[in-house]
Amino acid sequence: MNLILMGLPGAGKGTQAQKIVEEFQIPHISTGDIFRDAMKNETPMGLQAKAFIDKGELVPDEVTNGIVQERLAQADTDDGFMLDGYPRNLVQAKALDQMLSESNRHVDAVLNIDVDPAVLTQRLTGRFICRNCGATYHRLYNPPKVEGTCDVCGHHDFYQREDDKPETVKNRLDVNIKMNTPLVDYYTKAGVLHTVDGEQEIGQVYQAVQKILTNL
Ligand code: AP5
Ligand code: MG
Repeated sequence: MNLILMGLPGAGKGTQAQKIVEEFQIPHISTGDIFRDAMKNETPMGLQAKAFIDKGELVPDEVTNGIVQERLAQADTDDGFMLDGYPRNLVQAKALDQMLSESNRHVDAVLNIDVDPAVLTQRLTGRFICRNCGATYHRLYNPPKVEGTCDVCGHHDFYQREDDKPETVKNRLDVNIKMNTPLVDYYTKAGVLHTVDGEQEIGQVYQAVQKILTNL
């Protein structure tokens, strides 16, 4: 099963990805996570990406496509994968089609988590993440069961993403909203787009996702 998870910043891609990976056992490839790892390790690619991410801009397509191409060449993706946050524009979508066709693969489904942009600022500014395992929470909508303790790994150290500051969030949303409609049109024409109402409660969103994936 070769999947793409798309949706505006804060739509719930990472939250749903955590559940999909657990149930369907496919590698989760998040370009955002790859960039954040590289920034943390201060690699040349990380330093290059940081300049764009900190402003809420997209990292240049050549860099992003190269990273995905390298990742999809790894053998653990042979039986399926889930891309999260890639492709994000038409150049990337076409590059992905090319990469996959070179290895006789194709995209089986695109899950588009649809949320009104007006809701997203609050989702992003209220998000916090476990420093140990990366599990994502929200101050109001998805707090840990025991305050201050990660449900997944039991650690107590959380952080907020640099690009979740209100000044960056606005530009991130504007940039991504512009790219979103052409991508939705592209995958609708390809006959693989499935739109999920992302304004429901997290568990209900996942039920809708499960229904689509089990019917593929
Ligand atoms: P990336 O890390 O992909 O960020 P993003 O697209 O902005 O998306 P987020 O991770 O912020 O949101 P999400 O949809 O995963 O939401 P989450 O589940 O966490 O990319 C970061 C940056 O890297 C980009 O800005 C760009 O610069 C660069 N980049 C990445 N990919 C690129 C590419 N392909 N090309 C170029 N540049 C690229 O949920 C958000 C919050 O809401 C959480 O607190 C969660 O608990 C809560 N929540 C989730 N679901 C619900 C729900 N149903 N109801 C209520 N609350 C919910
Ligand atoms: Mg994410």
